[in-house]
Amino acid sequence: MAEVAFGGSAEKISLEEVGLRYEVDGEIATITLDRPDKRNAQTFATWSALAQIGDNLPQQVRVVVVRGEGPSFSAGIDLRMFTPEGVPGQGSFASSAKLDSSAFEQRIAQAQQGFLWLRRPDIVSVAAVQGHAIGAGFQLALACDLRVLADDAQLCMKEPALGLVPDLTGTKPLVDLVGLSRAVEICLTARTVGAQEAARIGLAELVVAPEDLAGAVRDLTAALLATGRDAATATKRLLQGASGRTLEEQCAAERQEQVVRIKALFAGS
Ligand code: ACO
Repeated sequence: MAEVAFGGSAEKISLEEVGLRYEVDGEIATITLDRPDKRNAQTFATWSALAQIGDNLPQQVRVVVVRGEGPSFSAGIDLRMFTPEGVPGQGSFASSAKLDSSAFEQRIAQAQQGFLWLRRPDIVSVAAVQGHAIGAGFQLALACDLRVLADDAQLCMKEPALGLVPDLTGTKPLVDLVGLSRAVEICLTARTVGAQEAARIGLAELVVAPEDLAGAVRDLTAALLATGRDAATATKRLLQGASGRTLEEQCAAERQEQVVRIKALFAGS
């Protein structure tokens, strides 16, 4: 997939123009935010491209790595959105504010599609985060199942400080991971959470030296791929549903998944 249409436009632009790289190597897909000179700032085109990558993910892919080129994972939304000129071809918040509310919500819903697929049960998504992950950058890391942080990582939910709310799917995973009180504190102070604290409060699975980040992600990916696809998918589905179910309901879900698994394992024997 080399081109992407965005914002309902028929115009297509290349992934390179969007500032993304996308590589598939067997069971592993790697998405790289690749505008390091602008600290991998994101636009609506970034989110359309991410959604299209998700829609077209080859069936064999089981792990999706999301990483950023350069010193920062992502400095969040492109600040040109706050200027009257906006981002060329994509408008500005000033122009979006003139849309009727349902059309504007629809635009945000499209942006959210770029993040939501990373939770699909048939894949495991891993964010490799170095340097700043601010706003949309933090939310992209939160959209992934797992986060591996370089020890220089700095996470910040800056939206409230800019008069906004975090709306790129990040609020639920944040609350699920750190609890309501800590999430309120992190968001409403818009403070920076460093890598060690992130690991302590459940925002990171692993913290490594920056030079070890790629290797740590490779090792984690290999370990994840050691589990068979069908068992991994069923287990992730089960775990994802756990917080919304009672113990009794969860036990029933375990039984249902296990019956399918064991029938599949012993079919024909
Ligand atoms: N949007 C557009 N351009 C950006 C962004 C951004 N979010 N962040 C950085 N850049 C650009 C800078 O303008 C600069 O461009 P220039 O070289 O053409 O002047 C370049 O990236 C490098 O930025 P520096 O600030 O020089 O880099 P530094 O490493 O010192 O700082 C940091 C990085 C901390 C990320 C800083 O750039 C920053 O605070 N950026 C803004 C973060 C922000 O407020 N994001 C919005 C969050 S809210 C949301 O995402 C919905």
